[in-house]
Amino acid sequence: MRIARSIPELRILLKTLKERSGRIGFVPTMGYLHEGHESLIRHCKTRCDSVVVSVFVNPTQFGAEEDFSRYPQDMERDQALCLNQEVTALFIPDLKEIYPTGFSTFIDPGPMGEVLCGKFRPGHFRGVTTVVGKLMNIVQPDLAFFGQKDLQQAAIIRRMVRDMNLPVELVVTPTIREADGLAISSRNAYLSAEDRQRALCISRALFAAEDAYRSGVRSACKLIDTARRLLTDLDELQYCELVDALTMDPIGGNVERLAGLCVAGMVRATRLIDNVLLSEASDPTNLLSLVGLPE
Ligand code: PAJ
Repeated sequence: MRIARSIPELRILLKTLKERSGRIGFVPTMGYLHEGHESLIRHCKTRCDSVVVSVFVNPTQFGAEEDFSRYPQDMERDQALCLNQEVTALFIPDLKEIYPTGFSTFIDPGPMGEVLCGKFRPGHFRGVTTVVGKLMNIVQPDLAFFGQKDLQQAAIIRRMVRDMNLPVELVVTPTIREADGLAISSRNAYLSAEDRQRALCISRALFAAEDAYRSGVRSACKLIDTARRLLTDLDELQYCELVDALTMDPIGGNVERLAGLCVAGMVRATRLIDNVLLSEASDPTNLLSLVGLPE
């Protein structure tokens, strides 16, 4: 595994990889890697000849009051995990490499960045699209991999790839959970044992709605209600909404197309998000991928 800390270093490495004419896959992360990231790397390996992983805690996607300065980090463990997964290249840029002095150009995700998490984290998705756009330009991968865990993020990036004609195929992969259902997240490290038990109400609520959907319930109100009634252990429920999984538009009436039931809430100072897809398709996560290059 090669490690690059600067863009020129990475470019030299990528040039060699591209000359070997294989497909380059890219997995962007903020580090503190876990089984969710590991699963993205595994999917990437099955589809690509080289795997590039980036670890960069992106300041522009954190609000002033958020956890940027205390975001968990363990570079040694991240490197070991990547080595173990046979990652080809690990890109670990520092702040100045990505945001040089005078940096002032951002990618605006538009209205999709203002709903759900965007309401509670103003500017968050503008930071995400900007850094992911930059990373795509730096790495120039053939395929890029994102988790369903961050459904809104995946939808916004898919739209950006299409709108900006980025020559990359987007692959979205299923959420990896702990045995008890909790969606794995770097932020779970903030939870005490007792907080963690309370956090479980999120996956429980989502699974209950999923069961209701499977048993034939299609009314958006009923499905949302089924989940809401179980979200009682949170200190604050920020949202529990049923949306079109590709556009993030709210679904009223009945669920008739690929839908995402999305929840965000606080357990003490920790913000947690999760979602389930409601669809008659057997593998609905596949429907979130952008197959082929955008025109
Ligand atoms: P991060 O939270 O580190 O997540 C990196 C990728 O891992 C994202 O695509 C996310 O959806 C995926 N992921 C996280 N937890 C997962 C789980 N339990 N199962 C499956 N996939 C999971 O998301 C970001 O970083 C940043 O916003 C980033 C895209 C890197 C831009 O800074």
